[in-house]
Amino acid sequence: MSVTLEQIVSLAKRRGFVFPGSEIYGGLAGTFDYGPHGVALKNNLKALWWKRFVEERDDMYGVDASLIMPARVWEASGHTETFNDPLVSDAKTGERYRLDHVLEGAGIDPAGMSLEEMWSALQEKGLKTLAGNAYEQPTTFNLLFPVTMGASKDSATLAYLRGETAQGMFVNFKNIIDAYHPKLPFGMGQIGKAFRNEIAPREFVFRLRELEQMEVEYFVSPESWKASFEEWLGIMRSYAEEIGIPLEHLHEKEIGDEDRAHYSERTIDFEYDFPTGTKELWGLAYRTDYDLSRHGEYSGTPLVYIDEEKKEKVVPHVIEPSLGIERTMLAVLAAAYDEDELGGETRIVLRLQPKVAPVKAMVSPLLKNKPELVEKAKEVRMLLKKVHPAIAWDDNGNIGKRYRRQDEIGTPFCITIDFDTLGETPDLKDTVTLRHRDTGEQERLSIEDVAEKIRLALA
Ligand code: GLY
Repeated sequence: MSVTLEQIVSLAKRRGFVFPGSEIYGGLAGTFDYGPHGVALKNNLKALWWKRFVEERDDMYGVDASLIMPARVWEASGHTETFNDPLVSDAKTGERYRLDHVLEGAGIDPAGMSLEEMWSALQEKGLKTLAGNAYEQPTTFNLLFPVTMGASKDSATLAYLRGETAQGMFVNFKNIIDAYHPKLPFGMGQIGKAFRNEIAPREFVFRLRELEQMEVEYFVSPESWKASFEEWLGIMRSYAEEIGIPLEHLHEKEIGDEDRAHYSERTIDFEYDFPTGTKELWGLAYRTDYDLSRHGEYSGTPLVYIDEEKKEKVVPHVIEPSLGIERTMLAVLAAAYDEDELGGETRIVLRLQPKVAPVKAMVSPLLKNKPELVEKAKEVRMLLKKVHPAIAWDDNGNIGKRYRRQDEIGTPFCITIDFDTLGETPDLKDTVTLRHRDTGEQERLSIEDVAEKIRLALA
């Protein structure tokens, strides 16, 4: 079914996935906090990414670099100069808008337009601000978050919260070479926070000021970049399938010269059919030798690879698959969200892949006031926890309500312990009811068979 952003926001809050940041103080725009189910969902997405993009490969090195990096890093990377958004203000109130978003809202595609062209388009159309006032001449607005480090005014050093995790890898290129002596091609992978002072954070977790990225910088010889680019495209598609992003809603878009980031000579955006429209989910960029050359120049430390066979120094080129976790989570939630009718009632169900689901199974005693049922159910839960720790307990309300609560958070299996489990019907002793989320169907299985089903679903 097609889901609205409001439906996702409401479920996310109600079921402990995502809360507005610092909500009791009125919220802080562009920040969100994650509740238990949100943390679990994000951790699952990260773990699957890490396994596929880093751990399973022999040519990848994981890093976890600092979030604060000196201004010089961002000068070298080109971000202080070019990491800008076009800004227009209300001439009377001073309220700020992103110029390209204003144009999009008026049905004008700003792709490829310069700041001046966007401004002319706005004027030609006679657009007014939300308050009905004129816009003021546009400027560009830098997205980096400055940080002043140090106690005294005079000696304070200007640094920035990193605008992308990528730079934390480029500055560690030499450390990896010196410590591990890898052969080309090889790469570095990192999961971590990045910060962008967005003019207009919006659309829930789509456009954030504090976000989390999963990025690879893959170093190749200059002549082999095309093959690596294709390889990483394939890996990104496989990851999408694994986490339940349907390929028919994922579109690969070649980004034109005018719209690529300053460091990129080729970019493919993976766009997803989000509830608010088809928009960028992930990116794959060919960053050439731009970053390593610039850091070599700005730091005075050459960032080179010594080709032992050819006896020459090369500055490797870079392929970068870049994925934002929050957008990935939003796409996964949008793809999984469904409403159907079960037993004559409408229900909300998240049809999440079991590997991604925050809770893998819920165990429940049929009645909570029967100690023998509760004890047996606890025993079953402990056994299933050996398959996976995320096995929930619920003995609140009637069984139907318990199932509905689990459907809403995407729990693939519910297990109910009843009197037959205890041996009331001798043939059924030590069997339980296994209920399947997607169909609501139930089957009677031995506890071992249930454990095996869960194991297989997570394999
Ligand atoms: N490293 C690419 C990006 O942050 O968009």
